[in-house]
Amino acid sequence: MTIGIDKLNFFAPHLYVDLVDLATARGVEPAKYTIGIGQEKMAFPPLTQDTISMGANAALPIVSKEDAELIDLVILGTESGIDYSKAGATVIHQLLGVQPFARAIEIKQACYGATAGLLMAKDYIQSHPGRKALVIASDIARYGLATGGEVTQGAGAVAMLVSDNPKILALEDESVVYTDNIFDFWRPVYSDNALVDGKFSNEAYITFFSTVWEEYKRRTNRCLEDFEALCFHLPYSKMGKKALLPVLENDGATDSVKEKLLTNYEHSILHTKAIGNIYTGSLYLGLCSLLDNQPNLKDNQLIGLFSYGSGAVGEFFTGRLVPGFSDHLQTEAHHNLLNERQALTIPEYEAVFKEKLPQDGSEMKLDTQADPASICIEKITDHQRYYYKK
Ligand code: COA
Repeated sequence: MTIGIDKLNFFAPHLYVDLVDLATARGVEPAKYTIGIGQEKMAFPPLTQDTISMGANAALPIVSKEDAELIDLVILGTESGIDYSKAGATVIHQLLGVQPFARAIEIKQACYGATAGLLMAKDYIQSHPGRKALVIASDIARYGLATGGEVTQGAGAVAMLVSDNPKILALEDESVVYTDNIFDFWRPVYSDNALVDGKFSNEAYITFFSTVWEEYKRRTNRCLEDFEALCFHLPYSKMGKKALLPVLENDGATDSVKEKLLTNYEHSILHTKAIGNIYTGSLYLGLCSLLDNQPNLKDNQLIGLFSYGSGAVGEFFTGRLVPGFSDHLQTEAHHNLLNERQALTIPEYEAVFKEKLPQDGSEMKLDTQADPASICIEKITDHQRYYYKK
């Protein structure tokens, strides 16, 4: 029995900031953002979107009525959740009409949370063939105005329906995971914005990748040549390449292996360049980007995935493209979503950045018509967020 990703979709809010405009406003050479960091646009959420609504918007187009009856697990991976206690997955469970005898939980481990969810879902399906699990990664990446991390902000969600006999990616059993207690990025409970030691986080990411890759090779006897593509957690589009290049050198990759992996890397970063960091969803946004933008991928090819969550946990795992996978992608919808967005000027972005939902328990009604998304926050009353499904 194969188990893996049966359906895959992402969502990004309809507002974005052009990073050349941001660079100009911050007095930075635009090439630093577009070439040095490798980002072009940064998705920004209106007040009507949070991790719950974005996650539900990502899942809505791929969860059919039949799926909703078969889903036993709804897992939300997020590090920008809205409640210390209640899992956002309980709300998504309701918004999608998932059958009631299901488990709904939220997982946190920085950008690694959704990977923990995906691999837990795989184990669940192994023991419950015929059933399904919905894994959602949803986050708003905020570092603050005019900070070093500002250019690596973003917002969005990825939804994955996990089942046996999946139609897109069959996950393999062997993976290597590695944990070390470090402070490269964290967000204390009193802070809206993340604290980050940017350089240290880059170094930790690179070290974690080489560590799990070396161990993976030792355990499996596989090598770079076995892979058609490697997808990376992408806090910004250059990050994965910084980790990949030294491994290509160390492993003595041939020119053709280098060319194949680096070409496919470029396909895997296009959505991230247009959206920015979506934290725990960013590895899966990279997978969507590879599948949406590389028409030469073939059935049964092997894809490696490197997940990294600061703090830190890293994992390298793998999957094979299922025969006929290309008939089951949401490529057109993804391109339409990206093309139909609206640019914010820098003053508009700064104004939206400072807007907040009530922090003191007061009530608020929001303008859902100004947001084209199918699911939006409608109002806050009695300390509860209400979501409107159009
Ligand atoms: N043209 C082209 N490239 C330029 C440039 C220009 N005019 N000016 C600078 N650059 C390049 C630098 O050489 C550097 O490239 P390199 O990384 O290949 O060496 C890159 O742009 C970034 O410059 P740097 O000075 O290192 O940027 P920074 O001090 O502003 O920090 C981050 C960049 C990513 C560390 C910062 O944005 C951050 O903290 N982000 C959040 C944390 C994060 O995403 N961590 C990732 C691991 S999870």
